[in-house]
Amino acid sequence: MKILVMGAGSIGSLFAGLLACNNENDVTIVAREFQVKAVKSYGLKIKGLIEKTVKNIKAETSVQPLIKEAWDLILLTVKAYSVSEASKQISPLIKEKTMVLCLQNGIGVEDEVLKVIRKENIIRGVTFCGAFLEKPGIVVSTGFGKTILGGLSPRNYDNILDIAENFKNSGFYVEISDNIQSIVWTKTLVNAGINPYGTLTGMRNGELLEYEDLKLLIAETVLEGVRVADKLKIPLPEDPVDLTFKTAKATAENFNSMLQDIKRGRRTEIDYINGAISRLGSSTGVSTPLNMLLTFLVKRLEKNTMVEELWRRVIHQKIS
Ligand SMILES: NC(=O)c1ccc[n+]([C@@H]2O[C@H](COP(=O)([O-])OP(=O)(O)OC[C@H]3O[C@@H](n4cnc5c(N)ncnc54)[C@H](OP(=O)(O)O)[C@@H]3O)[C@@H](O)[C@H]2O)c1
Repeated sequence: MKILVMGAGSIGSLFAGLLACNNENDVTIVAREFQVKAVKSYGLKIKGLIEKTVKNIKAETSVQPLIKEAWDLILLTVKAYSVSEASKQISPLIKEKTMVLCLQNGIGVEDEVLKVIRKENIIRGVTFCGAFLEKPGIVVSTGFGKTILGGLSPRNYDNILDIAENFKNSGFYVEISDNIQSIVWTKTLVNAGINPYGTLTGMRNGELLEYEDLKLLIAETVLEGVRVADKLKIPLPEDPVDLTFKTAKATAENFNSMLQDIKRGRRTEIDYINGAISRLGSSTGVSTPLNMLLTFLVKRLEKNTMVEELWRRVIHQKIS
């Protein structure tokens, strides 16, 4: 398969590296300049749970030189908030048989892609692999779970089968779902319960479970999302509250990705997690006050104003 990975940061580099190790594939990444320079000079190194050095990856900083080539698969691996821009950039590369696989966490990502690409060309994926970019050209594999694929249109089922087979041959654990929105929502509800609380308190996932009040708030946050999913007729086969607590326990030592984004001064994906639950709650008449509040607070933190503002006010009050 001729594969393009659009936005090869953490998860994109992991997928690009493993797919390129499979002789069936010809892999190119589009990434930021630091990453492109490193990959062109030294190849891509995968560390952690998987150890590989991959030399046969092509790299570009933009899609412009790639427009004339015929792509079988484009993995969209930018953050959810970059999907709209990245989709516009890849749209001239889409031929009738090109499949675009969206691997973001969060709700509503594919709606952004649908504005510029037909649903017959789009596949939604949810991955339980984990990775971070340690340095340019070096990606650390921190978790290696399933990747679940589902089409937006029944017409692309054969393409999904081919992609799933290719991913399996490249070492991934792959499943196909006939209701990918269930999987997207279930993972998002777990993130909605853990991520903002970890972010606002600075706690590791496991510490969140040590406070009964916090556990009640987490459960209610997830349940608000369950009520929205119910209104939208999205089936949730597992109990999302139970799954949230199990996930926090299983990842007890981790700081969640939203907290890590805040620590690095980066934007978070809150708009596509609690923000999406809150927006869809408003449009379906379901009350979601906790998700609304958490979105507001995390967005304040993103702007780095909350702590500073609080201190400014405290100091001002003492003086006056
Ligand atoms: N990392 C994980 O373990 C993991 C696991 C499961 C799911 N996910 C999901 O996968 C998605 C990506 O996460 P990530 O952690 O891999 O993010 P990431 O490390 O930030 O990687 C995305 C990369 O794409 C770049 N980018 C954005 N727009 C681009 C464009 N138009 N052209 C070229 N490069 C572009 C970004 O650069 P800038 O930062 O400069 O924009 C960044 O380097 C998220 O939705 C996340 O929730 C991640």
